[in-house]
Amino acid sequence: MVAYGPRSNHSSLFTWPGLLYETLPQQCHSIRTGNNFVSGSTIQPASSRPAATLGGRISVPGDKSISHRALMLGGIAVGETVIDGLLEGEDVLCTAAAMEQMGAEVIRPDTPGGAWRVYGRGVGGLSEPANVLDMGNSGTAARLLMGLMAAHPFTTFFTGDASLNGRPMSRITTPLAQMGAAFHTRSEGRMPLAVIGTDQLVPIEYSLPVASAQVKSAVLLAGLNTVGQTTVIESKPSRDHSERMVAHFGADIVTQETPDGGRRITLKGYPELMGQKITVPGDVSSAAFPIVAGLVCPGSVLTVTGVGLNPLRAGLIATLKEMGASLVLENDRVEAGEPVADLVVTAGSLKGVEVPPERAPSMIDEYPILAMAAACAEGSTRMTGIGELRVKECDRLDAVARGLEACGVQIEEGEDWLVVHGSGGTGGVPKGGATVPVHLDHRIAMSFLVLGMAAETAVSIDDASPIATSFPGFIDLMNGLGASISIT
Ligand code: S3P
Repeated sequence: MVAYGPRSNHSSLFTWPGLLYETLPQQCHSIRTGNNFVSGSTIQPASSRPAATLGGRISVPGDKSISHRALMLGGIAVGETVIDGLLEGEDVLCTAAAMEQMGAEVIRPDTPGGAWRVYGRGVGGLSEPANVLDMGNSGTAARLLMGLMAAHPFTTFFTGDASLNGRPMSRITTPLAQMGAAFHTRSEGRMPLAVIGTDQLVPIEYSLPVASAQVKSAVLLAGLNTVGQTTVIESKPSRDHSERMVAHFGADIVTQETPDGGRRITLKGYPELMGQKITVPGDVSSAAFPIVAGLVCPGSVLTVTGVGLNPLRAGLIATLKEMGASLVLENDRVEAGEPVADLVVTAGSLKGVEVPPERAPSMIDEYPILAMAAACAEGSTRMTGIGELRVKECDRLDAVARGLEACGVQIEEGEDWLVVHGSGGTGGVPKGGATVPVHLDHRIAMSFLVLGMAAETAVSIDDASPIATSFPGFIDLMNGLGASISIT
């Protein structure tokens, strides 16, 4: 058993139809024997003091979305998949462990940062896991794997930490049930849940009710082991890493633009996927934190190298530029089918803007850190069409709003919008001086640590440990640039 620590706050006893499972408190990551990927963690209060000036050249860890997909597709391809730059964060390690539990061979490099190797089982070839799959904090791991397992003829049990077990899953189970899978869930369709899969799924044409790459990907992954053509229609394009990667592994997938600006994606079932070489670019969602820190700490100049800039992920860059940010792209290139560039960030004053709702899917994870930039800007920033923030790792709209208020920033908040009234302009900066609860959410934790760098007095957070889910080494990296973050 691997002790995962206090974040995995499960009920200690839960039942599946006809079965009774007892989990040991704090030991829910009993993922595998012999090759444990996920290590333990404890609550870590942290504090970020106003930083002088940041400077340097850094790279950020690999893209989380691409890392999950590389392990999953490697696990259902034939032959060897070699993955360079895989994010070795807890979320992705949950996926690695789950793929191993289902029969894929996943080999971690001897040295951190080396290439991972996956030897897959072929489409439809995964085997029944002997234990519950614990997805920790990761919605992407849970939701995409539910799609994959819906198309396998056995039952797979999923659980996660308190945050993940509270998140809506009916958006995933609804289309997969239309294809022929069945589910036993906790009330309101939540996890822990059981996927009762079948290798006789029927193909569907599914219009996404919410802009969600996770829902789209779950249906497409199920469609890989489904006869005929599975189609997903999205009215607002969401990140397309699944489409790019299944094509890279050899699947027949076609994306058409629709007249209303949406996309229609059609996948042909039963492809023969062959192992591939994948280079994972730096995660723009992680790069967002040093980028905003560099912009709001006066005098800073820093470069973040190798950032993935898929147009369906780069909404924050466009927004920051509209706010007047000096962000220069250098050395832009394409790596493994994804656009990549180095970003040179120079501090300067920012002004408030309107962020259009149609931009939300391309920067959905970046609103918390954008709100910190907005708090330091001159004037007000209005963000609309962001109701999805309420069902992320926590209710991010509420967490950001309450945290900013505690730090002396004026905000207005609605069900799906937020206005941040910036403190900048007359040389003013946000007051700070508060301890902000992060609610098991890595991005809330990093956002408020960045705010502390630019505030009048230090900003503290109640727990920095969730940062390990997506950005291991964040505190050391930021301190190396000149920040002053300490575990308290
Ligand atoms: C992700 C999709 C997004 C994003 C999440 C990662 C993915 O979620 O918020 O962090 O890898 O597909 P939704 O699909 O719920 O928008």
